[in-house]
Amino acid sequence: MHLRWSRDTWEADLKGKRPDIAAEYTAALKDYLAKREEAALTRAYEIGREALGESVGVLEIATVHHQALRRLLPKQATASEAGQLLAAAENFFVESLSPFEMSHRGAREANTALRSINETMEEQAKRIAHSLHDEAGQLLASVHIELDRWARETPDLDPERLSKIKQMLDETGEQLRRLSHELCPPILGDRGLRAALEFLAEGVSERSGIEVTVKWAVEGRLPLMVETALYRVVQQGLNNVIKHGRATWATAELQMKGSLLRCSVRDDGVGFDVATVLSKNGKRGLGLVGMGERVRSLGGTFKVLSAPGKGTELLITIPLEK
Ligand SMILES: Nc1ncnc2c1ncn2[C@@H]1O[C@H](COP(=O)(O)OP(=O)(O)O)[C@@H](O)[C@H]1O
Ligand SMILES: [Mg+2]
Repeated sequence: MHLRWSRDTWEADLKGKRPDIAAEYTAALKDYLAKREEAALTRAYEIGREALGESVGVLEIATVHHQALRRLLPKQATASEAGQLLAAAENFFVESLSPFEMSHRGAREANTALRSINETMEEQAKRIAHSLHDEAGQLLASVHIELDRWARETPDLDPERLSKIKQMLDETGEQLRRLSHELCPPILGDRGLRAALEFLAEGVSERSGIEVTVKWAVEGRLPLMVETALYRVVQQGLNNVIKHGRATWATAELQMKGSLLRCSVRDDGVGFDVATVLSKNGKRGLGLVGMGERVRSLGGTFKVLSAPGKGTELLITIPLEK
C-alpha cells in the first residue's frame, strides 16, 4: 500500500501505530551526539530499515530527524558546538537514509532488467508474428494447390462447395495475416502508435462486435519505448474486454497534460472487484500485473478502476521529458 504523506497523517501516525520510530530515532540520535559511537550509527541504519519495511517514507524520516534535532540541540550551544553537533547529526541522518538509497538503487536496477526482458519479449513477438505470417501463409497456399489438383481429378465435384471452401481458406489466411500484424504491428514503427491503435481497434471491433474507438489528443510521435509499451497495454486491455468484459463499447484515449502522457482504456462491461482479483493474480505476473510493471518500468503509474456492474477503466500516466 502506498502511504500518502502529509503532516496530519504523520502526526496521527506518531500518536497511533508508529510512535516507536520517532522515539527510537530521537533516543539513538541523542546517544550518538553524546558518545559518537559506531553502535549508534548502526542503530540509525536499522531504524531506516525498519521504517522502509513499514512503508514509512523518506519525507517522514526527514521530519522525524528535524524534530529530533530541534529537541536535542542545546539552546545555549556556541556556534562551534552547534556546528559539530550538526555535522554529527548529518552523519546519523545519512546513515538512517542509506537503506532507502539502496532500495532506490535496487528498484532502478530491477527496472533496467524489466526493460530488457520487455525487449526480449518484443523480439519473440516479432518472430512469432513472422512465422504466423509466412509459414501459415505457405501452408494455406499448399492447401489451395492440393484442392485444385483434387478438383481436376474429381469430375463430379460440386463447384459451389469447392468455391465456398476456397473462400473460407482465403478468410482464414486474411485473419492470420491480420493477427500477425496486430501481434507485432510494422505500422507501429512506420506510422506510430495512433495508426497502430486504430488498426488494432478495427480488428477487435470486427472480431468481437464491440465498438472500439480511439480518441487521440497528442501531437506528433512519442518515444518508441513508450509507444511499444502503450500498444501492449491497450492490446491486453482490449483482450480483457473481449475475454471478460461482455461490453458493448470500449475506448482507448490518449492525451497530454503538460509533460504527462495520460492513457485510458475504458469499457461499459460487467466490471469486477479489483482488490479481490489483484490479490489473487499478484503471483502470476501476467495480465493486469504485467501491464502495471511495464508502465512502472517507464516511471509511470497504472491504476485499475472497476466494480461489478460498473465497467472497467485502466488509467496510465507516463512522464515524458520535454
Ligand atoms: N475489462 C474487464 N472487464 C471485466 N473483467 C475484467 C476486465 N479486465 C480484467 N478483468 C478481470 O480481471 C481478471 C484478471 O485479468 P488479467 O490480469 O488480464 O488476467 P486474465 O485475463 O489472464 O484472466 C480477469 O480474469 C477478469 O476477471
Ligand atoms: Mg488478461
